[in-house]
Amino acid sequence: MHKALEPNVPRSDALLALLLGYLPALERLEIPMDSEDPPRDPFITDWSLIERVLICMAGIRSMHSSENEMTLTLPKLTHLKADVDGNFPSADFEWLMVLLRIPTLTHVFGTKWTNKPQWLRPAYRKFHHLIHIELRDCTFDAINLRRFLRLAHKLETFVYERGWAKRKEWVLRSAELSNALQYTSRTLTRLELSFNRSAQKVYPDLYLQPLNLTGLRHLKRLRISAGYLVQTQRKMSLFEGRYWTLIDRHGIYNSAQPLYKLLPESLEELHVFQINDGPEFFLLREKLCESLYGRASPFLPEDHRFEHLKEIKIEAPFEDKGLLLFQPLSAITHRAGVKLTTIENSADYVRSWITGDTKVSCADKKIDWGFDGEIQWAHPFTRRGEVNYDLD
Ligand SMILES: *[C@@H]1O[C@H](CO)[C@@H](O)[C@H](O)[C@H]1NC(C)=O
Ligand SMILES: *[C@@H]1O[C@H](CO)[C@@H](O)[C@H](O)[C@H]1NC(C)=O
Repeated sequence: MHKALEPNVPRSDALLALLLGYLPALERLEIPMDSEDPPRDPFITDWSLIERVLICMAGIRSMHSSENEMTLTLPKLTHLKADVDGNFPSADFEWLMVLLRIPTLTHVFGTKWTNKPQWLRPAYRKFHHLIHIELRDCTFDAINLRRFLRLAHKLETFVYERGWAKRKEWVLRSAELSNALQYTSRTLTRLELSFNRSAQKVYPDLYLQPLNLTGLRHLKRLRISAGYLVQTQRKMSLFEGRYWTLIDRHGIYNSAQPLYKLLPESLEELHVFQINDGPEFFLLREKLCESLYGRASPFLPEDHRFEHLKEIKIEAPFEDKGLLLFQPLSAITHRAGVKLTTIENSADYVRSWITGDTKVSCADKKIDWGFDGEIQWAHPFTRRGEVNYDLD
């Protein structure tokens, strides 16, 4: 620190680290992370001093040399957002695990974290105060997902938008994701599972398989990509070719179940978005009708059948065809006493699977943070618009 502050070349990270010492009332901190750090050993290389400050606050170790000992803490810091630069998930998971340990944090946000070679493996303790974790454009394998969800034993809200990197950690079996989420089952009430749609011939929707979330017995609000709920024949047929290794037996088994057998009884709001195509929409509609049928006809003695469900929200590029498309579902939700909200989102699609209309690209979308966009940071999340690569 002293060296970094030498008069000729005061480093900007040192000035910032110093400044933090004068901000004891700081509640929210938003910082960019360098994706190159920290696979190098932080204790021998010239590491950003801000990152060192955060490591100390996490209580991993105190500062290296006793002369430069820093006892900086930010006792009021509850919200931290750590964004990594880059085009795909690249930052080290271990580093994220360190940040999650900062004992005052209740809300953690981040982009572009993934599995990476690991430099530090402190003995982790539980994240006692964390109630909100929001990770967008991130990708983790089953081991790492389990590792951090196991420690987040007070988690109430989890937002996980999967990003893609050309690595094998794309593959996350539906049973693995369901099992990892199970660690949060005692406290989790709001869950969003989505993915970064990208048209670059990666077919990310192939990696989404129907999940069994019944174990999340306190879950009230779920926002989810359609691919995590249903699986069309059209998608199944893709697995026969070069993607056969991605076949997921649990996903296939789940796809044969009615939705009420895959979703928890406690559910009050089901919000489905990122519908891939027409077949997926029609299958979803059919499965929702099937699952509500028991509730709409109270004489059938049956299992839970969405007893607590109050509202279904569906986003689709239906343009002016909404009335027709939702007709069977709106009839049954009406009888079952469930509110149906439909959200027109053709602006998000290069090719509307309802009208077939194609455009060259979609505009980027700025999204606020928090489950309902209730948390604003200097940088909203930018969801890149799709580009139509098939056009000449
Ligand atoms: C879903 O998982 C639960 C355990 O969390 C299990 O009891 C149930 O049988 C599973 N449902 C299906 C349809 O496999
Ligand atoms: C999503 O994926 C695309 C393509 O892989 C990438 O360019 C983009 O940065 C990613 N992230 C977001 C937030 O769109």
